[in-house]
Amino acid sequence: MSGNRGRLLVVDDADALAREAAAELTRIAKKSVAASGRFTLALSGGSTPRRLYALLADPSAPYRGAIPWEATQIFFGDERHVPPDDPQSNFRMAKEALLEHVPVPPANVHRVEAERADAAEAAAIYAQEIARVFALAPGQWPRFDLILLGMGPDGHTASLFPGSDALGVRDRTVAANWVAKFGAYRITLTLPVFDAASAVHFLVAGADKAATLSAVFDPASSPDAPDAFPCQRIRPRSGELLWLVDRAAAKALPQT
Ligand code: 6PG
Repeated sequence: MSGNRGRLLVVDDADALAREAAAELTRIAKKSVAASGRFTLALSGGSTPRRLYALLADPSAPYRGAIPWEATQIFFGDERHVPPDDPQSNFRMAKEALLEHVPVPPANVHRVEAERADAAEAAAIYAQEIARVFALAPGQWPRFDLILLGMGPDGHTASLFPGSDALGVRDRTVAANWVAKFGAYRITLTLPVFDAASAVHFLVAGADKAATLSAVFDPASSPDAPDAFPCQRIRPRSGELLWLVDRAAAKALPQT
């Protein structure tokens, strides 16, 4: 399945999803370093990627030794408004599952300073770090080599939740987004950053995502519709959009 919804690859289960995602990430990492001398990667939060991160860190798997970690710059697609040692922290999850186990130079890990009381300040500082690492001119967007994303049952991605203000932010790379259903702020990359990426890979697993995924891929739906899901609005202008989905999450999709 392709088109403006990108390429859909259905794999058997969560383990196969992690293997496929790891192989794709390794391919892009090597290609990026060969082309530019570095690999700029934004990690997704949530639970699905944990299996991928553990696989990337596994010395007995073919990925850890193949990825040029020393030339990898690690960012985060979004972060909860909590300290880095909080159980809810996406940074903590990535640190425990991956970053502590691979030789990425600490200076190459660019976390959101989500411990700051003011979420907008944390967002602004993170945006400054992105601008520094990508050497952005004013008005220029960072072109990540790869951004990993997940999808919630409500169709949110990163911390772009349905009806939230950050969905409308198109003049900044990072936004502090009030998420009413949690009664909390999240810090998130914004749609223009996802659309500027060289590659965006969604990782979606589990039967609880099936109904939403079916709606996302409904040919009658449009990413420009007012009720479009946030994940539908991710459209890399000149980049790859890949949906890696397991059979449980794909079970309501038209059989391709
Ligand atoms: C987060 C993620 C979020 C996540 C989806 C899917 O901070 O939680 O950025 O967008 O990708 O909620 O989460 P699961 O992979 O746990 O289903």
